[in-house]
Amino acid sequence: MQLKPLFTGILLCLLAISAQAQYNPLHIPDTISGTTFNLNMRDTFVQFRTGNQTITAGINGTFWGPTLIFNQGDSVHMNVHNYLNDTTTLHWHGMHLPAVMDGGPHQTIPTGTVWQPYWKVTNNAATFWYHPHLHMKTEMQLLQGLGGFIIVRDPVEAALALPRTYGVDDIPLALTSRSFDVNNAFTNTSPYGDYMLVNGTMSPQVSLPKQFVRLRLLNVELERGYNFGFSDNRTFWVIGNDGGLLDAPVPLTRTKLLPGERVEILVNLGADAVGSSIDLKAFNSGQPFGFPGSEPGTSGPFGSLLNNVDFNILHINVAAATTGAITTLPTTLVSNTYWTAADATVTRTMNVTQGTPGPGGLPFSLDNTPFVLGTINKTVNLNAIEKWTLTNNNVFGHSFHIHDIEFKIISRSTGPVNSYESGWKDTYYIGVNETVSFVAKFTDYADALHPFMYHCHIAPHEDGGMMGQFVVVDKTSVAQTEIEPGDYTIYPNPANTRLYVTLSDPAMQVYYITITNSIGRTMYMLPRPQLAGGIDISRFAPGNYFMQLTDEATKKVLTKKFVKE
Ligand code: C2O
Ligand code: CU
Ligand code: CU
Repeated sequence: MQLKPLFTGILLCLLAISAQAQYNPLHIPDTISGTTFNLNMRDTFVQFRTGNQTITAGINGTFWGPTLIFNQGDSVHMNVHNYLNDTTTLHWHGMHLPAVMDGGPHQTIPTGTVWQPYWKVTNNAATFWYHPHLHMKTEMQLLQGLGGFIIVRDPVEAALALPRTYGVDDIPLALTSRSFDVNNAFTNTSPYGDYMLVNGTMSPQVSLPKQFVRLRLLNVELERGYNFGFSDNRTFWVIGNDGGLLDAPVPLTRTKLLPGERVEILVNLGADAVGSSIDLKAFNSGQPFGFPGSEPGTSGPFGSLLNNVDFNILHINVAAATTGAITTLPTTLVSNTYWTAADATVTRTMNVTQGTPGPGGLPFSLDNTPFVLGTINKTVNLNAIEKWTLTNNNVFGHSFHIHDIEFKIISRSTGPVNSYESGWKDTYYIGVNETVSFVAKFTDYADALHPFMYHCHIAPHEDGGMMGQFVVVDKTSVAQTEIEPGDYTIYPNPANTRLYVTLSDPAMQVYYITITNSIGRTMYMLPRPQLAGGIDISRFAPGNYFMQLTDEATKKVLTKKFVKE
């Protein structure tokens, strides 16, 4: 009789061990701080499951890249090396920066090339991300695992009593799912994966301290939306949206998150016993048709084991509190001043329309105008405040995203704007038979040549042409088309380690420098290069090279030849 409780105890213990064994430790991406960021994009592989390894692509790693920590006000310099077997781009989703630095479909980085954009960080403290944006290949390159978080810090956020110890009480969570074929290769015959990956970890678990914890959730799915909450339906607090903190924490038990969107939440583990656990879950069953992932099938072109069901995202084990734990909820956060409809001097309307039907056809478009790389769809005046209204009377939901700016959602035709999306946004969900309006101001960066994108962030929709582009123009600047571009010289020539450029006219501004080798392969792409320190050519093989320098004022290209010793 005495043995029975002991036996039961052992059995429970074994069960607990086997329950533990089904989880893998959550990967917390490394961070890079400072002002220079070296990002190496590579084809690689991961052992996700027993059997073959899975071919992936990574940035400084194998699946999902490092978290870049930016301080507001810093000028950040990127060295993006493309070691992939394909052309790519790298877009800084949510960052306010010049279009030529944006990493959209126009800023292609050929294989073997270094791209060096830089900009001054003006965004508020929030969670952003970076990812490839190559026209018609975004889905394939996201599928392989290319992307990473950006966390912006600023003094206002830093002064608040919020959890911000990265990887301890401040956890980034990149949510996606993948399916595997019989050889363990990723497959996207359906855009909805069968198995959840968080920061690239299958079936993840994490130990979090017994206190208020901040989770930065990012949907990096190809298509699926999430309706997340906790297994015990506890209240959590939304503290931030895509572009910054809310005025005050918003208590909720469920929040939706569509591809490209971010939300920062606080969850209180202070009343949980050390050793207990809860799950962050997707409560995706019973969503209305049109919500991506609500489709019923487990197989077929839109099938998935995770469709229209509730499933675990992350298993959380409660551990001891840390010293300096945040144990109270702030009552207020920041004071945002939002644009209103009354501020808008320009109003634009758009409609979700059908794409080209049939095999290989494109499912959706905007205003019956499938994306064309050479067509500018809209021209926005610098500093204009505009109201954009999108209507979706089509058959499916979408995740609308715009580059360059953060906006304020001012109305939803289906009811009030959700409290969890009441802050600065750059991406929003639009359901079937819904109209959504936002207001935004287009400040700082005029460039008549390089456009910004707006598109559905569901990757197959974007690749299929549900995208358009706009330029921001400064009508007040003097037309300079009469001026001839100044010439320039490069020295030393031949050169060995660094190449210097002297402009004949000191007032001349360089828009772009591209260096190609003798067979036309691009080696360097330098938007608005800072030339004082010269250009590092030490890694070039000896031979002949061509420098193409584009003048800012005239956009004329002047080519010079140089020799690398
Ligand atoms: Cu997240 Cu146009 O991109
Ligand atoms: Cu973007
Ligand atoms: Cu879409």
